[in-house]
Amino acid sequence: MERTCETGGVAARIEELKKRHGGDLVILGHHYQSDDVIRHVDIVGDSLELARRIPEIEARNIVFCGVYFMAESACLLARPGQKVFLPDHEADCAMARMARAEDVERVLERLAASGRKVVPLAYVNSSLAVKAVVGRFGGAVCTSSNAKVMLEWALGQGEAVLFLPDRNLGRNTARTLGIAAGEQALLDLAGDNLDSEEVRRARLILWPGCCPIHDRLMKPEMVDAFHSHFPGCRVLVHPECTPEVVDRCDGAGSTAYLIKEVEKAAAEGKESTLCIGTEFHLVHRLMEKFAGRLNVIPLAQASCADMEKVTAERLLATLEGLEEGRGEVLVDEALKAPARDSLVRMLENCR
Ligand code: 13P
Ligand code: SF4
Repeated sequence: MERTCETGGVAARIEELKKRHGGDLVILGHHYQSDDVIRHVDIVGDSLELARRIPEIEARNIVFCGVYFMAESACLLARPGQKVFLPDHEADCAMARMARAEDVERVLERLAASGRKVVPLAYVNSSLAVKAVVGRFGGAVCTSSNAKVMLEWALGQGEAVLFLPDRNLGRNTARTLGIAAGEQALLDLAGDNLDSEEVRRARLILWPGCCPIHDRLMKPEMVDAFHSHFPGCRVLVHPECTPEVVDRCDGAGSTAYLIKEVEKAAAEGKESTLCIGTEFHLVHRLMEKFAGRLNVIPLAQASCADMEKVTAERLLATLEGLEEGRGEVLVDEALKAPARDSLVRMLENCR
């Protein structure tokens, strides 16, 4: 991408401040961040990789370039005395906002009252308060990389699982485990179907949330159009896409899986073109990285407006205000222990 003098100045200043803070500072960034931010990041990863790397970080200050729930998870896994910063606190995840802790708690209490043991499994894209509720009800967290392992684990802990907030990841994962559609029930929070026969029978109860980017901007007909323009070429998507999209694709998996498939295809040289259905900043980076070796095509120009709120300018402002605590993420101490329980259950099951 073209760079202006001004963005060049911001970049130089960020690098200067990084040098000045030295070992006291580590910058983490999710793959969906823009190139202007990624170029300053020390550790790039998907949400699972980034969570796994936190405990090994010794720096006093961790600046997290991603969305709010990721920075909250970093706070949970950080050492005492370490501080976590997010360059824009408005950078929240639209899907995470679809499950409020008080609603999750109310639903779990109602489900428990029916006498069945329903274990909650929360996608990591959820607030710390939701993770705390899940932890208190004996549940765990999962990411798109380990949703299958964690759903198997959760099914083994009780009679049914409440999967939240992403109904698509829940359904797509259920398919890989052979859980039939008839064994699943989608919650209707407004209509209140908690006491319905369908919910009472279900092994998998799905929260009605989704990622607006993957759910609404990536459509089955786009996959068909790609296949007819590029016969024999593969379409790979993130499992936050609808099952109708996943059905027509040649593979679905986490951010880490999508990156590995692109790297593998470029290294093997057997495929000329690969279509990737996930957030556009990542796909664009892969397009540029492998240009000339592999034609990487985005399924849709779908970027995450929340991830985009973290800009190089805001990263610079955070670094300039580090000592005053500008952009620091503070989490409710009372929620830390139960939320950590739910995260640790995932990390222990997915070593
Ligand atoms: P990963 O868990 O693959 O990093 O994805 C996070 C996310 O927000 C996907 O939209
Ligand atoms: Fe949330 Fe979707 Fe953005 Fe991922 S892409 S952070 S799930 S809104």
